[in-house]
Amino acid sequence: MQLSMQGGVGIVTGGGSGLGRAICMRLAQEGAFVAAVDINMDGATQTAKDITAGGGKAAAFRCDISDPAQVTATITAVQSQLGAPKWLFNAAGIVSHGRVEQVSYETFSKVLAINVGGAFLMSKAVLPFLVQNQGSIVNVASLAGTMGVPYMVSYSTSKGALIAMTRAMAKEYVDRKVRINVLAPGGIETPMYDVPFPPDANPEILATLPRTSMALAKPSELANMAVFIASPEGGNISGSVVAVDGAST
Ligand SMILES: NC(=O)c1ccc[n+]([C@@H]2O[C@H](COP(=O)([O-])OP(=O)(O)OC[C@H]3O[C@@H](n4cnc5c(N)ncnc54)[C@H](O)[C@@H]3O)[C@@H](O)[C@H]2O)c1
Repeated sequence: MQLSMQGGVGIVTGGGSGLGRAICMRLAQEGAFVAAVDINMDGATQTAKDITAGGGKAAAFRCDISDPAQVTATITAVQSQLGAPKWLFNAAGIVSHGRVEQVSYETFSKVLAINVGGAFLMSKAVLPFLVQNQGSIVNVASLAGTMGVPYMVSYSTSKGALIAMTRAMAKEYVDRKVRINVLAPGGIETPMYDVPFPPDANPEILATLPRTSMALAKPSELANMAVFIASPEGGNISGSVVAVDGAST
């Protein structure tokens, strides 16, 4: 199925690695122009290079999405280099494991500042363009946000908040025809998945984690879903929390 995305501009945070990179590549396949945004400029540059080598149009932008000034400057740069954005994919994120009593408030705040604050700042900056272009936002949460995962208090809190933010924004923008959705993956085969639980985690508690044999997805599988939902073919899907977790939940 060819999606109607040719020549539209998509911004992807976390575009330098894992799922964000897969979304960039999938958007390019659909003929969209791609802004790969990442704090890791080497990764974002590689993504943009790979797209242009394949005949697509892309550019890399270094940005810490938790910094309001950098976000504003990045959106201005995207607009002047590629054009007014039509889609935003908030895929950048960080993970943190640890027992609640050992998690510093600094770590807790940092995870929230990037995973929720970054998505908020990016959305706020891009929404005026999405309203003009009747575009769409896809956020990336996790089953940790729908269920709560032990030893991941900061991450679970951030992903739960991202889901609530998605629902609130989706309702608010119905009258301006901007659709906003969130994915809740189980596991994805990316560098983030390899971050271990604390060595003293109780195996009995870890065994309660819902993980079917289909839980672990390839980045391309998540990217297919993200790009479809964002595309005009995504129809009236908005305010949805889309589990992509092989029936784990
Ligand atoms: N890997 C999994 O098992 C899994 C499961 C569920 C949800 N997710 C979510 O999927 C999304 C993509 O993660 P991934 O698995 O591809 O991980 P990843 O670590 O491969 O990629 C994350 C990217 O985000 C970038 N990033 C981090 N902080 C940033 C900041 N402040 N500003 C800009 N960019 C920043 C990193 O540089 C990196 O390129 C994340 O939101 C993650 O929480 C991942």
